Amino acid sequence: MSIISKDILKAIALLNAEELVAIPTETVYGLAGNIYSEKAIKSIFETKQRPFFNPLIVHISSKEYLENIVDYIPEKAKLLADAFWPGPITLVLKKKTTIPDLITAGKDTVAVRIPNHPATLALLKQLDFPLAAPSANPFNRISPTKAEHVEAYFKDNIKMVLDGGACKSGIESTIIGFDNDEPIIYRLGSTAIEDIEAVVGKIKVKNSTAELGQSQKEVSPDAPGMLERHYAPRTKTILTDNIINVIKMHPNKRIGVILFKNQIKDPNVTSQIILSENGDLPEAASKLYDTLHQLDSQNLDVIIAEKFPDYGLGKSINDRLKRATK
Ligand code: TXA
Ligand code: MG
Repeated sequence: MSIISKDILKAIALLNAEELVAIPTETVYGLAGNIYSEKAIKSIFETKQRPFFNPLIVHISSKEYLENIVDYIPEKAKLLADAFWPGPITLVLKKKTTIPDLITAGKDTVAVRIPNHPATLALLKQLDFPLAAPSANPFNRISPTKAEHVEAYFKDNIKMVLDGGACKSGIESTIIGFDNDEPIIYRLGSTAIEDIEAVVGKIKVKNSTAELGQSQKEVSPDAPGMLERHYAPRTKTILTDNIINVIKMHPNKRIGVILFKNQIKDPNVTSQIILSENGDLPEAASKLYDTLHQLDSQNLDVIIAEKFPDYGLGKSINDRLKRATK
């Protein structure tokens, strides 16, 4: 029997019983549990096979509730919350002592956001506790943007995926931390840097391969979201700005290609997917993970992705594709 269901009351009952439920958000599906239940939180880490040093995001339903989670809110964090919540921005702020260390991996900060999805907002409003929810994929695998992706990963591990359709944004939230009250981007994501800068001015990107091009080890980093190998298909994946050349380098192989807007005519390509024929970056971002899921299930020898333009959500798409190649 399928674990996919639209029954919010069932989701509430499971969460109240300290069980996990996969929930839809505008970015990706999350694997959710009560932040105050040690049982639920441990089971999130176990189910995902996620190392305990990698902290979780807390999901709340209103800005007012933020006071119960964090001790201090810098002025620019308020501006960002006002501008983008509910929506794909996660703020990393000084945590209240009541927030369990298991959630924050012992850090004195906590990541928090209001997701923009009607089913999950309705769910949160009917619960007495916020939900910790990492993306609902096993550690290092492609994030899920459809209920079916979650079911394929976890049908033997969890009792329910709350069905909210395909995720509209399709890439994880942009994570923003603070250093002396100044915002810093920890993880590129579904909110474009340009939109963030329109609210808080010029902003730095920390520890990002997009900016530093440096390799990072899989140890507890400052911005643990930026582990080098992440979001990875099992099929070998290559990111290039010369797709024709890379195809030539793979004779007699089953090749899958990910393109921004233009088709390529090459008889050596087994499967090609165009992310946005109109050249619309948000549309491309929304289809990225589903495309990776599809190509990864086609027994290809290699997936070759074309580099996206280096602005707006193109930066976030390139960041994820780069991590998929590691
Ligand atoms: O869009 C999203 O953010 C999705 C949906 C479900 O909300 N969630 C998500 O969670 O992407 P997850 O666990 O896959 O990624 C959260 C990232 C982690 O890489 C973690 O290292 C980082 O947030 N993070 C959490 N708490 C942090 C903290 N206190 N300081 C720095 N980074 C933190
Ligand atoms: Mg994740």
